[in-house]
Amino acid sequence: MSDKYAVIGNPVAHSKSPLIHAEFARQTGHDIAYTTIFAPLDGFRAEVLKFRDAGGKGLNVTVPFKHEAWNLVGAHAGYALDAGAVNTIKFIDGQMVGYNTDGIGLVRDIQDNLKYPIQGRRVLLMGAGGATYGVMHPLLSEHPDTLIVANRTPDKAVSLVAHFQKFEKFAINGISARPYSQLSDTKFDLIINATSAGLSDEMPPLPNDIFAADVLAYDMVYGKTTPFLRFAQERGARSADGTGMLVEQAAESFFIWRGVRPQTAPVIARLRGEG
Ligand code: ATR
Repeated sequence: MSDKYAVIGNPVAHSKSPLIHAEFARQTGHDIAYTTIFAPLDGFRAEVLKFRDAGGKGLNVTVPFKHEAWNLVGAHAGYALDAGAVNTIKFIDGQMVGYNTDGIGLVRDIQDNLKYPIQGRRVLLMGAGGATYGVMHPLLSEHPDTLIVANRTPDKAVSLVAHFQKFEKFAINGISARPYSQLSDTKFDLIINATSAGLSDEMPPLPNDIFAADVLAYDMVYGKTTPFLRFAQERGARSADGTGMLVEQAAESFFIWRGVRPQTAPVIARLRGEG
């Protein structure tokens, strides 16, 4: 019988994860069945336990349950501990271990696929929600020059930066929180949109003149040209959506569960309609 995996969320029907993992399984010759589980907002725990008790081997967790998953698992591995969010669960003898592969996915897409080394760059990260918490530690581990977090509600950026203070020295010139209105005196090499603004065709209130010459503009939202990406393209900046991050985080989950690393390039091309 195939080993059972699933992505659990609300909503979840639109998820690309079943397609991605089916492709990884085909590529590596692994026999897995990967489905979606829709959990009611108050029914996450019950659905996870039901899946485990039915012999499930692992879960991906998506919106809005990543923080609840962090609370539910018995142990945290890798970047999950500081992220406060879990997107991958591995069941080991009935115990649940929680991982967070989102930040690894982002960093691999930027450095390996887009060939843009993060070390020594001035990085602006927009947003201070769950998506930002998930990528802070992995981004800092690449030793940027600075990492500045901007958020519409400035207090949330301040708390987030305080939460990651212990990693401040991973960045050559430290980390800080700033309102959007106080970004104009800096130029950034890498600007990452971790807000949900693009989902509703909105854009964070970014000043006009903060793009360095060699800037990369990255939106974690996938499959669409968000207003932020359009803004970047209109200024001649290089830009990327979150398709590569999505596939890379899935590949890291597959590695955690199965011990082999699938090839991501053909799957990214396929999702972009190029494969
Ligand atoms: P996620 O888990 O995807 O990060 P979240 O925790 O709801 O979702 O956080 C959404 C983030 O997008 C927040 O940083 C939010 O800013 P606020 O904290 O000020 O609410 C940001 N966001 C959403 N819409 C935005 C918009 N139109 N402009 C700027 N920021 C926006």
